[in-house]
This record gives sequence, structure tokens and C-alpha cells, in this order.
Amino acid sequence: MIKFIEETVDYLKDKGFDSPEIGIILGTGLGQLINEIEIIAQVSYNHIPNFPTATVEFHKGKLVYGNIEDKKVVVMQGRFHIYEGYTLQDVTFPVRIMEKLGIKTLLVSNAAGAINLNFKKGELMLIDDHINLQGSSPLAFKGVSELGERFADMSAPYDAKINTTFKKIASKNNITLHKGVYASVVGPQLETRAEYRMLKIIGADAVGMSTVPEVIVANHLNLKVAAVSVLTDECDPDNLEPVNIDDIIAHASKAEPNMILLFKELLKSI
Ligand code: HPA
Repeated sequence: MIKFIEETVDYLKDKGFDSPEIGIILGTGLGQLINEIEIIAQVSYNHIPNFPTATVEFHKGKLVYGNIEDKKVVVMQGRFHIYEGYTLQDVTFPVRIMEKLGIKTLLVSNAAGAINLNFKKGELMLIDDHINLQGSSPLAFKGVSELGERFADMSAPYDAKINTTFKKIASKNNITLHKGVYASVVGPQLETRAEYRMLKIIGADAVGMSTVPEVIVANHLNLKVAAVSVLTDECDPDNLEPVNIDDIIAHASKAEPNMILLFKELLKSI
């Protein structure tokens, strides 16, 4: 893996990705942040050596380097999911690349279902902790200890200082920002009523299909991490309606201006 990482980093440095401070994974609900970036360089994922091979859905994925709020950022426009058939090492390879390019902080967004029924669709949730239900670990491979501590510490995977700042920004701007535990599942199917009940019992406030692998690897690399979910549906097992993906996407878009404001203000403060 080290040789692949070096090759990819050399390629990106050659393309002008010279000194990013912060990495951002634009998930659902934050895609439009890309329009706020003064772009210095950008490359499609399918041109980047050793990046996971693009799937059909993936033709738009690209890595962007530029300035936002006077900060040098490297941005993943589109992410890889285990449900697309990638391995957890594939899903997290870009995090290792961003770290080698120089980032010290990783900011992540995603869409999630609300397990905690005090949280409503269209609202945002700051991830305070997580539960990995993807059945494996992105650190479960031979040679991982050449890249960091195999038994990576997960006592505080999300940066408390950044989270406090996020909370302050939210209250100053009248944005509802819950705080909670995010459980990551494989997907792509949504959960059954019994699974939603289980998720509640084990302490999840929200459920989604991403983020946890990237956060584990970011912690493996000692990066500071923060992540925000946009809650797109309410997972009430006693009143569950059939899933409506258009509805999920609509709620994610509705929350997008708040999400963008939070991230831009946070970048000013870092
Ligand atoms: N479950 C899993 N992933 C999701 C959900 C959900 O209810 N909503 C948005 N992403």
C-alpha cells in the first residue's frame, strides 16, 4: 500500500495539489459547497492512479484543490461506499492520500436516517461518536502497522474542540444542530423495522451507509475529525412508510444551505 500511496501523492503534487491543510468529504447535503471554492486544481477520480475504479454512478467524482475562507482545502466531490462493491481499504484510500498531501483535519458530511425520534428530517446532527456495523474494519489488512498503530485508539474519534465551535456557530445562526451517535451499516437496502428497533436499543441516534470507515482511518493517521449528518428520514419502526429516495434527496437539499453555512464558518475559525 505504501508504494501505491506514494505514486498517487506524487501524481497529485504534480497536478498542483501542493499544500492542503484541511480535507473535506462532500457527502449528500454538502455538494454545493464546491461552488464556494476558488479552484486551483481538479482531477477526475478515474484519472488518479490507484484510486478505486469508477462505477457508473461515479463518473462525476473528482478531487478538487483550492481555497475557501482563506484555507487551502482538498475536497472529495463524491465518496466511495462499501455497497458499491469496494473494499473498506478502497473506500478509505483517499483519506490516506489527503493525509500524505498534508491535511491535519478532516471534515465529513453525510445523509442519515433519524433513529432518535426527537430529531426531525431536514435537521442536522453533529456526530459525537459512532458504532461500526459494517462487519469489518478498514484497518484489517496485512501491513497496516506500517501506516500507523494497528490497535488504533477510538476513545474520542471526533474532535471536541471543533464540535464545540460547530455548536457555537449553529446557535449563533439559529440552526438546529443535534449531537448524537451515528451507526454505519453496509446498505444499500434500507433497514427493517426490527433493525431500526435494534439500532435504537444499542444507542444509535442516526444511521447511514458511510463515514465511519473514513473516520477510523483518519484517527489511524491522527487527524482531527468532525462530521455532520443531514437527517433525511425518520426511522420510526411503529409507523414506517416505504422508503422514498426522492424524498430523502429533497430533505438533504433543503438542509444544504445550513450545512454550507456551518462548514464555511467553521473553516474561518480553524
Ligand atoms: N438508513 C440508512 N441509511 C440512510 C437512511 C436510513 O434510514 N437515511 C439516509 N441514509
